[in-house]
Amino acid sequence: MSIKELIVSKPLETKIEVKGWVRSFRNNQFIALNDGSTINNLQLVLALDAFDEEILKKINVGASIVAQGILKESLGKGQQIELIVEEIQIVGESDPEKYPIQPKKHSLEFLRENAHLRIRTNTFSAIFRVRHHLTFAIHKYFNDLGFFNIHSPIITGSDAEGAGEMFQVTSLNYDNPPKDEAGNIDFSKDFFGKKAHLSVSGQLHAELAAMGLGKVYTFGPTFRAENSNTSRHLSEFWMIEPEAAFMDLNGDMDLAEGMLKYCIQYILDYCMDDILFLQDRLLEEEKQKPQNERSPMSLIDKLRFCVDNEYQRLTYTEAIEILKNSQPNKKGKFVYPITGFGADLQSEHERYLVEKHFQKPVILINYPKEIKAFYMRLNEDQKTVAAMDILFPGIGEMVGGSQREERLDVLLQKMKDFGIHEEEMSWYLDTRRFGTNPHAGFGLGFERLMMFITGMSNIRDVIPFARTPKNCEF
Ligand code: 4AD
Ligand code: MG
Repeated sequence: MSIKELIVSKPLETKIEVKGWVRSFRNNQFIALNDGSTINNLQLVLALDAFDEEILKKINVGASIVAQGILKESLGKGQQIELIVEEIQIVGESDPEKYPIQPKKHSLEFLRENAHLRIRTNTFSAIFRVRHHLTFAIHKYFNDLGFFNIHSPIITGSDAEGAGEMFQVTSLNYDNPPKDEAGNIDFSKDFFGKKAHLSVSGQLHAELAAMGLGKVYTFGPTFRAENSNTSRHLSEFWMIEPEAAFMDLNGDMDLAEGMLKYCIQYILDYCMDDILFLQDRLLEEEKQKPQNERSPMSLIDKLRFCVDNEYQRLTYTEAIEILKNSQPNKKGKFVYPITGFGADLQSEHERYLVEKHFQKPVILINYPKEIKAFYMRLNEDQKTVAAMDILFPGIGEMVGGSQREERLDVLLQKMKDFGIHEEEMSWYLDTRRFGTNPHAGFGLGFERLMMFITGMSNIRDVIPFARTPKNCEF
């Protein structure tokens, strides 16, 4: 039985077997055992002098053990049940001189360097249990609404999405690649007979699927070869991309806001033990900061706040007015000063809107067409497109989406303006040639939502093995 099951069903006075890893061993008598099923350890009690010295010496932090005994109500403080051990086997030893994870505070940086072992700590096992439940919540949200999960390809032969720089996939020998007559590398000799890349987004394929299945979503890894070494960017991250036929921008915003609220509530319902632990962790971390940088709300308050409140919806143009007249802009505090319509919003602007001005999640719509992707629907003003970004406190951009340009002639013109070749995108344009309709979708950065829910401030800490520029360990 897992420790989680034991804590729930409490089969007192019965003989139980448990398996797990030693978290601590006190007074040659009390083992804190964790098996990963829950943040809670089970206390194992060894009667004094009942076990060989040889065995006791091997009960070290990190060792894996199996123990049998009788489950009892605990007399001690801090736990309700404990196992009175009758027999114990050391399955895998752990040399205390060498095992890097000791029962003391390790820095997050140290744990990142030991990512293969950090999953055994309270913090990271809590995070990855939450990650599992959050995955499940997303599938449940869309499934309950009648969306079909679609597996978009990871290797793609189109490079038009424009969401970001791409990693090339090749099997050519780069010491001696085949060349054409002009001396350029001949990709017709490459594995796929053409250039291929890792996908930056599943959107274009989701659009194809939505034209047959109505409502679909992808949930897969995406890859961006951008040299952005920030606490919010990964080179490999997971994205959820729903796409629905016959849906406009308002429907898209409702779908996204509904998803975020559903997922946060789901974690509050199913992961409270882990969230309480992460809340305390965050509180400790914030004690290191000066008073004015500490969050006025606890983690759970922040999560509840984003479930209970309507997100502020406003246009890009309105946001620019607010930013232009803001204190930091007037006092020259923004690195990128806002002069007027057309400026791309930087994270300093997004954070001002969300954290200072509105103090709640914000949905910005109708961005200038020049700063958004070619497939976004041109608004009647001919200047803006039906885009929407959802901005979250402490995170910035959580979701990016839009209503898509369903009019073939307008889309062709947009592609020309963006320098995208029509022939390459013929398969995509077929959606507009046959049975086109207003449709919309968005992309949620899974790790950004993980950061918000767990209160972790570095995106490298919410994915098991982070890939970032110059870092592909493990
Ligand atoms: O805004 P993005 O680039 O949008 C798209 O890729 C669209 N095709 C989505 C769609 O409409 N179907 O990315 C979507 C989201 C961002 O809002 C952000 O949360 C996340 O993906 N994201 C990243 N997360 C981690 N690391 C990165 N390098 C990210 N880049 C984007
Ligand atoms: Mg975006």
